[in-house]
Amino acid sequence: MTTEPIDSTLQEHRLFPPRPASELGFARWHVGSLDEYHKLHRRSLDDPEGFWASEAGYLSWFRRWDKVLDWTPPDARWFLGGTINACFNCADRHVQAGHGDEVALVWEAEPIGPQTSHPAPGSAYANEPEVRRLTYRDLQVETSKVANVLKRLGVKKGDVVTIYMPMVPELAIAILACARLGAVHSVIFGGFAPHAISERVLDADSRVIITADGGYRRGDIVPLQQNVEEAVRSLANPTHGGGAHIVNHVLVLRRTGRQPPSKRFHTGHAPDTLPGSATRFHWWHEIEALVSDACPCEPMDAEDMLFLLYTSGSTGKPKGIVHTTGGYLTYVNTTCRLTFNMIPDAGQLFWCSADLGWITGHSYVLYGPLMNRVPTLMYEGAPNFPTLDGGKGDRFWDIIARHRVTQFYTAPTAIRTFMKWGDELPARHDLSSLRILGTVGEPINPEAWIWYHATIGKGQCPVVDTYWQTETGGHVCTPLPGATPAKPGSCTLPMPGIDAAVVNEQGEELPPNQGGLFVIRRPWPGMLRGVHANRERFVSNYWSRVQDPRSGEPYYFSADGARRDPDGYFWIQGRIDDVIKVSGHLLGTMEVESALVSHPMVAEAAVVGMPHDIKGSAICAFVTLKSKWFTENPGNQPGDDLRKELAAHVAREVGALARPDQVRFADGLPKTRSGKIMRRLLRDVAAGVEKITQDTTTLEDFSVVAKLRADEE
Ligand code: WT7
Repeated sequence: MTTEPIDSTLQEHRLFPPRPASELGFARWHVGSLDEYHKLHRRSLDDPEGFWASEAGYLSWFRRWDKVLDWTPPDARWFLGGTINACFNCADRHVQAGHGDEVALVWEAEPIGPQTSHPAPGSAYANEPEVRRLTYRDLQVETSKVANVLKRLGVKKGDVVTIYMPMVPELAIAILACARLGAVHSVIFGGFAPHAISERVLDADSRVIITADGGYRRGDIVPLQQNVEEAVRSLANPTHGGGAHIVNHVLVLRRTGRQPPSKRFHTGHAPDTLPGSATRFHWWHEIEALVSDACPCEPMDAEDMLFLLYTSGSTGKPKGIVHTTGGYLTYVNTTCRLTFNMIPDAGQLFWCSADLGWITGHSYVLYGPLMNRVPTLMYEGAPNFPTLDGGKGDRFWDIIARHRVTQFYTAPTAIRTFMKWGDELPARHDLSSLRILGTVGEPINPEAWIWYHATIGKGQCPVVDTYWQTETGGHVCTPLPGATPAKPGSCTLPMPGIDAAVVNEQGEELPPNQGGLFVIRRPWPGMLRGVHANRERFVSNYWSRVQDPRSGEPYYFSADGARRDPDGYFWIQGRIDDVIKVSGHLLGTMEVESALVSHPMVAEAAVVGMPHDIKGSAICAFVTLKSKWFTENPGNQPGDDLRKELAAHVAREVGALARPDQVRFADGLPKTRSGKIMRRLLRDVAAGVEKITQDTTTLEDFSVVAKLRADEE
């Protein structure tokens, strides 16, 4: 940790009080006043076990738990002795209750006939996007089939299945199918590069991958299977990363029909093996035709792992965050219900625009709405893909209008982009179905909040700014739409059951408006249970920074700085570790630096975030070159060609999200006496706060500043 939180007091006094449920067409608010919220919150902390037991009662358990909580810090176990299944709670349970024919999931494809150079194969959708509606019964049947497919491929309860797919219904089905049979799902965002796949597959010791022959994105085709082939090949090669890791099976969904899964697939013969490896490839549709559509839901222990999801850390490789079944489901069900005022049979259609490759997608595209029996919308593509009438940049508003979306949940980076594209785009569409607007991923600038509220919500819809993390499973601080007066830029108050605080390094709670560390002082059901195969990282990352000053019990530390205002509202100030939020997505500086250093010309690299209007932060990379480069390019200075090459190298190694906006060459990196890179200085240089070079040569000279600051960090 290199920086400490800054004291900053944003002057933001606008207050948006909640409105009566009836004015927004809701039958009721689950929590209808600030007073009611405070009572609920107090009760949840006075009697956490009673509170969470009643919340868990919203779900369908095969066997009721014997004990609500076992807390041996930092290890919590929730609902001990209880057995439950996630897929059952999302599908079968609703079928059994007579709701089998109701729509569970609405999916819209990206391509629209004549406007795309890649029409979906055999698509009858010349002038409109393909829309599919799946009922709870469809989910039950489809997940049963895929669970049977996985069993046929040798997958057993507890095995990790890696999923690397586009945003199509089969992705949701694949995830739920794993849950159905008790396999652990590990979803990798489709925008990541082969290296990210192999790293995660190896860490999770996963032997089966589900992918697609390609995915549509912004009119292009993402070569998903090709990336998997590359990852599988490099894993099988014993010179990489120690020993050979053999992926036994790859299940391939045919989505585009344009990207032959491998040369052999081209001939239409499947299954087959990748030349030179033992991995067998299977077409999803071929193997699915061979299995039965009945498969019981496996009763899982409440503490059995439901999924792994990798997130970036400040050092080293991505961390596999472990979530278990009973607690996660309970927490997601509760937060989804309260934050979005979910009510079944009330004509709601919920749309969270996140990809299922992120925790937001897991909790609020999939599990939360399905458990609450509110239909969820999934959109395959990008916001700037052309709309039906040739519009550009208004696809989201077009989707909201055509499907009559009632609750919409997106990220500040998207909102800032929409602001930039202008008010005319939303104005072309009827957004009157909207009732609640949500945001997540990073602090939202008050201007963006106001724009979202006024231009998208027409001043009518509550905006819920939800603060949470991959590790927390669900919302930790957020306004409740019927209860909490909102202040633009603040995530307001803790969720019931969450004992959040801003403390100093000694664990003492700070007075209003003083910046400190955001901590959670007691366990909650949705909390991570570990970092996969890395106990040390679990303990040191989350439980070692601060503790209760009296009992010495560790607090959960989120790595965010925050302050509370005199009303007790939380204002998140951002990360205080070395991770960067690019467009709301976490990237570890180490990941990007390692990618840069893997380039044959790079000697050393330091990566920092710099402010960016749309992305929030963008990546700025400081690079020193090997002398080899100068020998091979006598008399030259590195220039734009090399900058582009290095940026592309990072995108190839990590993924497009990680592509640096700036690559700056230096003849040495500024370091402290103990050899630590002075990141704060580099951040200032990147932000333009500090000017280093007096002349205009392409190499930065840090020697002057480094000497001046040698003792600082
Ligand atoms: C980090 C967690 C949680 C799903 C998406 C990101 C930042 C997230 C907010 C918000 C201020 C926010 C924090 C947090 N963050 N939401 N509403 N206000 N900051 O999950 O990738 O695990 O990132 O995102 O810095 O620690 P994640």
